[in-house]
Amino acid sequence: MGDKRIKSTVWGFLCKFAAHHFTSQLISTPLITILAIETSCDETAVAICRNGAILSNIIASQSVHEQFGGVVPELASRAHMELITPVTEKAMKKAGIEPGDLTAIAFTYAPGLIGSLLVGSQFGKSLAMSLGIPLIGVHHLQAHVLSNLLAENPPRFPFLCLTVSGGHTQIVRCDAPDKMEVIGETIDDAAGEAFDKTAKLLGLPYPGGPLIDKYAKGGDPSRFRFPEPQVPGLDFSFSGLKTSILYFLKEESFKNSSFIENNIADICASVQGRIVSILMNKLIKAATLTGIKNICIAGGVSANSGLRNAVVLTGKERGWSVTIPPFEYCTDNAAMIAITGFYQYQAKSFSPLSISPSANGAPDAIKQ
Ligand code: KG4
Ligand code: ZN
Repeated sequence: MGDKRIKSTVWGFLCKFAAHHFTSQLISTPLITILAIETSCDETAVAICRNGAILSNIIASQSVHEQFGGVVPELASRAHMELITPVTEKAMKKAGIEPGDLTAIAFTYAPGLIGSLLVGSQFGKSLAMSLGIPLIGVHHLQAHVLSNLLAENPPRFPFLCLTVSGGHTQIVRCDAPDKMEVIGETIDDAAGEAFDKTAKLLGLPYPGGPLIDKYAKGGDPSRFRFPEPQVPGLDFSFSGLKTSILYFLKEESFKNSSFIENNIADICASVQGRIVSILMNKLIKAATLTGIKNICIAGGVSANSGLRNAVVLTGKERGWSVTIPPFEYCTDNAAMIAITGFYQYQAKSFSPLSISPSANGAPDAIKQ
């Protein structure tokens, strides 16, 4: 009997100890739950991240721009206003999160369309203020680079990231989440613009990149030859390519009005092949000059199958360790804002409520 009582007391103590130990563990490692907002262009996106893991990632793409062949800023701001609340509610529901569970609000403050940025920033500020939690302003391009940290095999530091989007083309050297330097960038158009403008010339809707990628899969990339620009160093140029495509299509369509229709796959494959070779040649040069073999890609154009294949293949030939973000983290999304916000939270890099969004703002960490 006495034995039994001792046993139950010890058992009770152990249970109490285990409970206390578990609770103190929870107290000593608090959960960092971040709600992140991305509204820099034509995607209204909200994600929830807990201690670096993405719990939900909701993206509403605005189809209103398709008919105009590009993003119409005023229409984008209006669509963000309509979508921001339902997208936020959906992200919270999917993550199983209540407002009281949130530790901080992260939002894109730059660069982007100013009206679109204003919607996300005002919404984020209001949430942070009403919940009494910190606000974290995130730079969109830094977030694209750090989207690689969400990959299954995240890169080791230092790494080089080729960021290729609708508005930017950069090679970034990244030594830590908050230590980045642009070592090459476009002097005119972005790679995504080259895809989108070519698509427009071919009569395809915006955004043209995914459609060119689709047609290119059935085409011959060596059929038509477009020039490779000669730009010194690690910088890029795409405006000459755009002009040569324009004159080529005009000339061929003048001779044969069905030229585009009859050759769409070969045209797309040839244009894509040239854009990819321009990007790859500079990336190889950057890796050689810096001696860095951890290589990543990011941004909407990193969803391109030709570029993804070329990076993997070149990586194998040159002994690179290649990281490519999952598709859903290539084009604009809020998961990349959330993971960047998570690192900024740990570094206590908070923003005042007076922070203003900026169409062109460069962050301290990215020295241009
Ligand atoms: O990063 P992102 O979503 O927005 C910006 O920050 O600009 O990039 C959008 C760009 C557009 O130019 C779009 O045509 C391009 O990414 N894009 C692609 C593909 N998917 C999106 N370009 C080529 N191939 C794709 N599969
Ligand atoms: Zn982007």
